[in-house]
Order: sequence, then structure tokens, then C-alpha cells
Amino acid sequence: MSENTITDMVRCVYNTHNTVTGSVCRTNTENLLPEHIALFDQLSEEIKKSYYGTGIMIPEKLKGKRVLDVGCGSGSLVFILSKLVGPTGYVVGVDLSEMLIEIARSQVDYHRKAWGYDTMNCEFVLGNVENLPFPPESFDIVVSSGVISMCPDKEAVFAVVHSVLKEGGQFLLSDVCGEDDIPEECRSNDVIWTCGLGGLRWDRLAEVASKTGFTRPHLRQAAPVDIAEEYVKMIENSRFTCAGWRLFKLPEDHRYDACRVTYKGNIPEYSDQLPWDIDLTFKKGQGVDVDGELTTLLSTSYLRENFDFADTNVKPVTKRNQNPFAYLDKLQSEGRLPPSIFKVE
Ligand SMILES: C[S@@+](CC[C@H](N)C(=O)[O-])C[C@H]1O[C@@H](n2cnc3c(N)ncnc32)[C@H](O)[C@@H]1O
Repeated sequence: MSENTITDMVRCVYNTHNTVTGSVCRTNTENLLPEHIALFDQLSEEIKKSYYGTGIMIPEKLKGKRVLDVGCGSGSLVFILSKLVGPTGYVVGVDLSEMLIEIARSQVDYHRKAWGYDTMNCEFVLGNVENLPFPPESFDIVVSSGVISMCPDKEAVFAVVHSVLKEGGQFLLSDVCGEDDIPEECRSNDVIWTCGLGGLRWDRLAEVASKTGFTRPHLRQAAPVDIAEEYVKMIENSRFTCAGWRLFKLPEDHRYDACRVTYKGNIPEYSDQLPWDIDLTFKKGQGVDVDGELTTLLSTSYLRENFDFADTNVKPVTKRNQNPFAYLDKLQSEGRLPPSIFKVE
């Protein structure tokens, strides 16, 4: 199938999906703060019914920021973020589906009132995320949930996100990733494709990230995807997960050596500790030796005021690009496997 045909199929599925039956995706609450979960409860019923995210990640330090949600669907995350950026921030959601953008626009006034704003600080744009209509460096943070897996040209999306993100900005990506490639002939199946099973194989993410100028990804969370028997056979038992990653766009001309970094505890909602990825949580006031790549990230990104930096004489190994399937296996062996985010059926 050509790329245009795939994109038309995705548009058609998300333009005709029955939003009366309720949300098809579970809101993952494992890594959210209670105040974030409370905001989900305050969304309008119309928005809750048409939530299709493949894992939610809420960026830190949102006050006053300009945030872009690529593939926003009916806008659940845009509305949550519009509350968290406050009246001086701004959130833009882009999606291909006329129906979902229409639902989102119809709910702006509801959320303006719910958040207590005189004027709303978000907007919804109909468009293709492979070709975003924004000037370079126009957003502080970009988020995306469950979208890039169904874009035929994934590298194009990373490249355009990199272009619209400011230097030092974060890209929080939560999406469906595969453990292996699936057979070529089932990629054009509409259920398989529009459920994200044409997603990036997890181990190619770092490659695409580096190629398009991002830092290598840190795995923040993962949860299983259930697949009905009929499709399990078609994809030859490949496993899929909804995995959440942090990537950054950094200035090109700064590279630092390993350092001892200490989190200052000065992000209000993370005053004791800042969870970073599945292997690392920064605790307030406790120095951690990190490698040059993470030192560079922390000291040149918008998080730089939140850390102190000191020399270290050890050669730390910092984990990144972690295997989400190994992580899920570990959670399962410890009896901590989260429920699946959605079922492919
Ligand atoms: C699984 S849903 C996720 C929606 C939303 N992120 C949420 O959390 O509810 C995938 C969304 O991606 C959109 N989409 C897929 N391909 C796209 C593209 N090339 N450009 C813009 N949106 C796209 C679909 O229309 C759909 O709304």
C-alpha cells in the first residue's frame, strides 16, 4: 500500500470510529501523580469517551510553556496540559481526523470554564504530523501518544518534531513498539495498522532518534498490549508494548564529561524526587554520577536550573534505550505487571 493510501485508511478509521461505546484505551495511572489523575476525572464525558491514548506521560515544569501534542485525537491530553501550563502557557493539538478535531473544538469552552480561564489557551489544528505547519523552534515541549506507530514515514515525523522543538526542549513519546518485525503482508491490514502494530521496533527508536538529532531515548514506562488470537497468528506471535520514552533536542556545540548531579527538589510537584526512567530516580539533595550524555542533557535542557553539577572521578554507566520487553518480563516475574492498555481485536 502506498503511504497516501495508508494515511487515508487511518483518517477513515478515526473519522468513523464509534465514540458512543466509550474509551477503548485504559488510562495508565501507574506513573501519574494523584493531581494529574484528578484532572483526567474532570474532563468532559464527551472527551473521556473518545480517548485513544497508548499511555500518558505528563511533562515536568509546564507552567507558561508552549506545548504541542502531535496526533491529539479528541484532545484529552491537550485539555489536561492546558490546565497545567496555566493561563500564560499555550497548547496546540494536531490531528488528521476531522471528526476528532471537531469533537475537541466543541469541548474547548467546557474546559475553559472548568479550568476557570477567561480565554482558552489551546487550539486544535487539522493536519498531518508528517508535515507540521509551524515555524522552527516554536514549542518548548512536544508530546505524542499512539500516533507515530501509524505514520508510514516515522523518520519524517521525528524530523519535523525536532524542527518545531526549541533547543533544550523535551519530546515525550508514548507509543506502540514491537519486539520483532511483523510479516510484510499483514502490515496493510487495517486493524493491525490502525492499532499501531506497524509501530517502530523498539530497538530502532534510538537509531531514528539519533538520525533526526534527538538524544537517545530513556524508557520511562511500559505496559502490555493484548492481541486477539486471530491477529496473534497473523503477526507470528510478535509481542507489542505501549512504551513511554523521553528524548531531548540539545544544542549541537555543547558536550560535557561525566558529572555528579544533584537534584535540587525545586520542581514543585516533584519536591522529594524526580522519577527519570525505569532505572533512575533523582532524589532531592542526593548526588548521582551520570555519564557525559546525561550530564549534557541535564545541563543544556530546560531542566538545567533543577540540578547542581560537580566533578566526579568515577566512570558511571548510565542506562538508556532500555528494552521494554525485558522490563515487562521483570515486572511480571515480580507480580507487578500493569494491565494492558488496550486490546487489538
Ligand atoms: C491511537 S489514536 C491516539 C489519539 C490521542 N493521542 C489520544 O491520546 O487519545 C491515534 C491518533 O493519531 C491520529 N493520526 C494518525 N496518523 C496521523 C497523521 N499522519 N497525522 C495526524 N494525525 C494522525 C489519528 O487520527 C488518531 O486520532
